[in-house]
Formats: sequence, C-alpha cells, structure tokens
Amino acid sequence: MTASATLASERGRAMQTFHFTLNGAATAVEALPDDMLVDVLREVLKIKSVKTGCGPQRECGACVAYIDGTPRVTCAVRIAQVEGRKILTLEGVSDNERRLYADAFQAAAGLQCGFCTPGLVLRIKWLTDQGQTLSRADIARALDGHLCRCTGYVKIIDAVELIQAAKAGGALPAVIEDGGVGQRLKRYQGSELALGVRPFVADIDVPGMLYGALVLSPHARARVVRIDTAKALAVPGVIAVATARDVPGNRWVGQIYPDWPCFVAEGEEVRYVGDVVAAVAAETPRIAREAGRLVEVDYEVLTPVLDPLEAIKPGAPRVNPVHENLLSVTRYARGDVDAALAGSAHVVTGTWKTQRIEHLFLEPEAALAVPLPDGRLHLYSQSQGIFEDRRQVASVLGEPEANLFIELVPNGGGFGGKEDMTVQAQTAVLARLTGRAVRIVLNREESIRMHPKRHPLTMTYTVGCDVDGRLTGARIDMIGDSGAYASVGGKVLERAAGHACGPYRMPVLAIEGIAAYTNNVPCGAMRGFGANQTSFAIEGCLDMLAAKVGIDGWEMRWRNIVHVGDMFSTGQILEKSVGIEQTLLAVKGAYDSARAQGRAVGIACGIKNSGIGNGAIETGKCRLVVQTDGSIELHTGFTEMGQGLLTILTQCAVETTGLPARLFRPQVNSRFELGSGQTTGSRASLLAGPSVVDAAQKLKADLDSGLGLKDLAGRVYAGEHRIDDTTAPGETKNGKIKTHTTFGFATQVVVLNEAGVVERVIAAHDVGRALNPQQCEAQIQGAVHMGLGYALTEELPCKDGMPVTFKLREIGVLRAQHMPAVEVILVEDPEPEGPFGAKGVGEIGLVPTAGAVAGALEAFDGIRRMRLPMKESPAARAINLGRIPDADRDQWH
Ligand code: FES
Ligand code: FES
Repeated sequence: MTASATLASERGRAMQTFHFTLNGAATAVEALPDDMLVDVLREVLKIKSVKTGCGPQRECGACVAYIDGTPRVTCAVRIAQVEGRKILTLEGVSDNERRLYADAFQAAAGLQCGFCTPGLVLRIKWLTDQGQTLSRADIARALDGHLCRCTGYVKIIDAVELIQAAKAGGALPAVIEDGGVGQRLKRYQGSELALGVRPFVADIDVPGMLYGALVLSPHARARVVRIDTAKALAVPGVIAVATARDVPGNRWVGQIYPDWPCFVAEGEEVRYVGDVVAAVAAETPRIAREAGRLVEVDYEVLTPVLDPLEAIKPGAPRVNPVHENLLSVTRYARGDVDAALAGSAHVVTGTWKTQRIEHLFLEPEAALAVPLPDGRLHLYSQSQGIFEDRRQVASVLGEPEANLFIELVPNGGGFGGKEDMTVQAQTAVLARLTGRAVRIVLNREESIRMHPKRHPLTMTYTVGCDVDGRLTGARIDMIGDSGAYASVGGKVLERAAGHACGPYRMPVLAIEGIAAYTNNVPCGAMRGFGANQTSFAIEGCLDMLAAKVGIDGWEMRWRNIVHVGDMFSTGQILEKSVGIEQTLLAVKGAYDSARAQGRAVGIACGIKNSGIGNGAIETGKCRLVVQTDGSIELHTGFTEMGQGLLTILTQCAVETTGLPARLFRPQVNSRFELGSGQTTGSRASLLAGPSVVDAAQKLKADLDSGLGLKDLAGRVYAGEHRIDDTTAPGETKNGKIKTHTTFGFATQVVVLNEAGVVERVIAAHDVGRALNPQQCEAQIQGAVHMGLGYALTEELPCKDGMPVTFKLREIGVLRAQHMPAVEVILVEDPEPEGPFGAKGVGEIGLVPTAGAVAGALEAFDGIRRMRLPMKESPAARAINLGRIPDADRDQWH
C-alpha cells in the first residue's frame, strides 16, 4: 500500500517516503519527517480508530496504537520514528477479538460518548494479553495514560475484568439487545463506538475537502488596528483567509444576547483570548495552521478587566458593546432576615470561593460544512443544540435557515461546554467563500481558550438555626465571573441563587446573585450550573451549624430537608416527586457504620432542577418515520453526547409500541423542524421522552388496527411535549410560583481512609424512574468523578485573561487510579410529568460531592475548607497530578 501525504507543507521542505507495516500490510507513505504519526494515520491512511484528544501532550491516550507490539501514544511519535516498524491499530485486530472488546464494553456499560474507548481498548488488549489476572487497583494504575471524562472509570474497569475472565475461558454476560423502560438495553451504536468505527465530526472526510484553522487573539483586551492576510494567502496550498470583511450576514452570535462576534473586525476590541480574528482554509491541516501563524495582526493592547467586583464599579471600562458589565442580578427574598438571624440560637457566617474549571470533553470542537449541489450547505455539528447552530449560522451567512441542512454527529462529551458556538460559523463562512467542503478541528489549547467554563463564584453566607438545628434564615450574596460574553452566565447565577439553600426548608431568606462581564474566558453552562457552587457553601453551613447544635451531619440534614408541600428557595411549593428523604435513609447505614469504625465521614445533600424552567417555554418533539425495510427512524432535536439519550428514547418507543429495539434508528438533523433549544438543564429525557411516547402511541394505534410496518412505510408520526407553566423569578402564573417542573435529589457520603484519602463514595439518587438502570448508574459514577476533581484537584486559573496552563494533568482531571469505590443507590420517587416517572439525572450526580468531601476532611483534621479546589488537603495531596503554583493565578480566584 502506498499513500501520499496530504499533510505536508509545500514550502520548500522535501517530503520523504517512509515504509512500515500497518495492520499486517507493507505500507509506504510520503510525509515530512516531523509529521506526527497520529496525523499520518488519520489524515493520510484514513485510520480513524486513533483519535486526537490532546496531541501532542501525550496525556489522554485517545491516539494509542501498537508500535512493535507495545501500545504507544501516536501524537508523540514522528513518522520518521516508525520507519521499518510494525504498527497495529484496532482496524487490524481480528474480528473475534474486536467482538469480545465491543461486547465486554457493552455488557459493562463501560462507554458513554466513546471518544476515549478505542484507545482504551488497545491498551486493554495489551494488558489482558499478558496472561495475568490483574486486580482492580492494578488495572486502574495500568490505565493511567488514559483519560475518560464520562464514566468515572468504574465500568471501564468492570469491562476489563470481563475481558480478563473471557480470555481465561469464561463467558461474557449477555449483551441486552432488546428492552423497554427499566431494562439494561445496550447503548445505541455502542459496538461501533468501542471500536472507533462510528465517526465523530473530525473523522468525516469529504472528497475535495479543505482544512480550516483559526487565528485567535493573544490578548484579553486590545484594539485590532490592522489585519494583514497577504503573507498567509501567499502560502502554496492556502485557498482562502477569511476575516470579518468576509462575513455576509450578521457577525454577532450568542445564545441569549448576540454579543459575541464570530470574527473581530479591524477597529474593534478583542475581549478575550479566544476571540477569532481570521480563519484560513487550505489543502492540508498543517498548511492551514502554518498559514494562520503568518496572518499579521496589529493590536493596541488595553488594560483588561479581570476582577468581577472591579468590573461592576462605576467607571470601570466597559467589556462588551452590547451589555453593561453588570450582566444580571437575581434576587429572592421572603421574611425579615435580620430578625430571623437575630432570633436564631446559632448563626454561622463565611465566604466560600469556587474556581473556574474546564469541561475537558475528550473530543475537541469540530465542524464540517459541505456545499450541496442544490445550493444548500450541509453542516455537520457536534454541538448541544443543532437548531440553535442553524439559527446562528444562517444569520452569520445572511441566508435563510432553509439553506442549511444541519446534522448532529453525536459528540465526544459536552457537559454544557458545547452549547455556545465555537467553530461552526467560521467553518460555514469558509465553505461559502471557497465553494468547497471545509472542516475545522480545534486542538486542545484552542478548545480550552475558546469555550465557556464553569463560573468561579464568591459566595458569602450567613445562616441561622434554632436550638434543635432547624434552619431559621439565610442571607446569601454571590458574584460570578462571566467573562467576556454573556453565554448563559445570567442563567447560571439565576440557578445558583435559586439553589442557594439546597434541598432544605429555609423559612426566611434574602439571596442576591450577580453575574459580571470581565475580559476572562467566558463562563457559561457546565453540568449542574450554579447548583454545584452553592451546594458547597450551604453544605458547609449545615456542617458548621450541626457542630454548634451538637448533632451529626446526617441528623442535621434529616431535620431540615424538604418534603412534599414545602417551599423551595424560589418560592415554589414542591408538590410531587421529592425523594430526598429516601436518599438520606438509603445512606444512613453506611454513614453510621463508617463513623462507628472511626472513619472520617462527610455527608451532603443536593437538589438540581430538571428542565430549564424559570418561565421558559420548553418543548420536546419527535418524528417516527416508517421505512420500506420495516425500520423506523426516530427523530429528535436533542443531542446525544454520551449521556445515552438515543438509547433511552429507543426504550421509550419500545415500551410504547412493543416493537423490538433493533427496528429504531435514532437521528438528529433538520429534516423536520424539531428545534427544542439546547440539550441542557437535565431536560432531554424529560422533554423528548414524552414526545417519543406521543408519536409511538399513534404508531401503536395503527399497528393495533391490523396494519403492519410494511403497510405503514412512509408514514410520519409526530409527537410533542410542551412545558409552559413555569414562572420566571419574581413572577407567578395563575397565582402560583413554579420555577421548575421537577428536581433531582441526592445524598452522598464520602468516607476517608486512615491517611485522609477518599476511599469510598456512596451516592443515593432520586431519579424518578431509572429508564435504563445501568446507564443511570453510569451517569452518576461519571458525575461523582467530576465532582471529586472539582473538590480536590481541578482548576483553570487565568493570568491576564489567559489560562495559565493547557496541560491536562495540571488541569487536574482524575485518572482511574485516583478514583475511590463509588456505590450508587437508585431511588425511584416517580415524577408524574416525566416519561414513565423519570426525571433528569445528567447533572445532579456531582452537586453534593464537594460538600461531602469538605465535611469528611473536616472530620479528619478539623479544618473547615471554604475554597475549591481543596488542593492542600491530604486527600488532594495524595493525588499525583500536576499542580498550578499559586503565583500563577489572578488574585480574585
Ligand atoms: S495522548 Fe495523543 S492525543 Fe492525547
Ligand atoms: S466515554 Fe470516555 S471520554 Fe466519553
């Protein structure tokens, strides 16, 4: 096999021919000696099971291939280094073995988005080929070179144990091929994901496709004086360089306010280090990036606004042209707080600070725009709301939305970080400019610079209780750094304020939440948005009050949790599906016995809205389309991002129609007008589930009338579910406050070992109904992993507006060996408005975790920690990850 490199620049450097064996076949490839093996494999040889998650950091493991029989990260190997060697990728593994790995991962539910999985599979092949039976701890250590942001590794290690047993002659448990609600149905496209066969956007190639690269601002605040693209345009292989001048429509995008230019024009300010000033389209990715470095931009550097408290002072430089620096203020108040606190037996007060963190979905952002013969543009997106993408991209292009056919390629993790647009508009502009297909894929540094993060919050709490520990009142003030653009920052602070008292009865309260613009990287949606931060603070208050009252943490919470009929902080009376009591009871045995054994134990409860609520009209829409072959397309407008939505929706259809799961083919594209907004706020199952049921009931009625699927070929069954009865903060509807449709509830217990290291997490969650218990459990395990990182190690400080690191180890995401045992207890208190009683589970999993860790640490060493991450704690010090020195961060954080 001979292949010509399409990577190499033609600027005077001679390409060479390299020879090696690839998956058993003699292979010759022309490339530059310093081309990375991962790029040659992916872009020249079209081997797509190797993924690029961090290259060339060698820290995620997604790009693993065997070189001479040993797994190696191919982003750290130059093509010249493999001359004469043997390379094996998953494509070269025997069919029987591939089936074993795919089935084991399916049976164990060891994959979610699947972006990390092919790399892991090759590592696991090597591990399990050594003929030893490894313990769970050994396996975890052996997986240290791999990152998974979705699973928490628990079920990956389960899969490794299954593979070990199978290679020793045992049988795998059966993969569940069919099933309705409540069954452990296998993940839709799970085998294809495990083996790297199902493409992500960056894996899709189109004949004649160009590769795009972006030019980002190096400054947090500066005026763009001049942009000169001449040198970049002169590079052979460069087809176009786009700037603001090339945008035919409206450059300004944004989910709530159109305050974010997809290109910053000459004469305007750049407002953060992810602002785009130019985009290059070229024949190869390498040429595009090299040419991008030749775009000359003159900046007049301005002093950035980096502190949200300074930003909202009179006279502060205005960050954003569309909105003043005070982005939003949310207030909730009832009763006389001063009197309530003055009359309390005990009062605690303090300021809690949480940090900015990175989503670190394993798949960096990518988009592919392909001009169609009929003049439309086919945009492949991996975002959390393709109809929102279509609306905004059409506006940028100055074209009607009908000119865009948009298709979701289920993504490699989102967690809120793929709600805002990153590369979609620039990709579309380049495709229109050149008339050719264009694909842009961000590298890890660009990804970290561009997309919004979790808000750092400073929260001052004063909370009282009576002699028995019953809460009497709270005064809570908080401010969050929303960065340079609005994103959904105001909504995050709205949720933070609404959830500020946790799942506790608070008879009297005064809460104020402020979001402010700065020139830092924007902050927006991230799993749990706002609830995680305030949970850390309110749980700290409860622990401090419990100590004053002289009762334990469990009892303190038991005396204060909400029940049906109680009022939530927003004024909403909770009318149904309030399972917090059952979750507390579920952990009591573990909590008491660990304490009796002398262990340091922490406990925290959590609440998280399911559905956006707060007055938003929300819809879920579905179309079931019967095909001539008897299969049924299941169309939804929400995004599959590893959470298992498409599997769950299939189960809803199976449950309703009685048809087998294999008949349903879920899809997300703009063939139908199913726009439902972003996949956010733990709402996709809540809204899409009933819409599938609605459509499926219509199909079932036809089937029950005696018609078969062949008779129904071509029929389209429409389903819709609408929520329009929630109220905005401070408003009522029909005399009632209902800020949210429903809530998830949880109690988590954290147990430390003798050294103060987290040994065990017990997570009891009220999920309403577990539509797929295995996936539900997996979601919570993955969320606990994220919550432990949030508590102990994860941070992304900025200095002068620039993240101080892009290294995955320094960002602090936990590896498999850092994970304690995680025991999930599913509680089902049915939600009448949810599908089959279910409510969202995507976010609540990490809401209580940091609070429980802080409580356990205080039980261990007597120190009440009020700042995240708790990196100086014994639990964090035991984790061998990189560390960011204090000197490398701005003071506010
Ligand atoms: S280790 Fe190679 S892409 Fe991450
Ligand atoms: S399943 Fe591992 S990163 Fe998503």
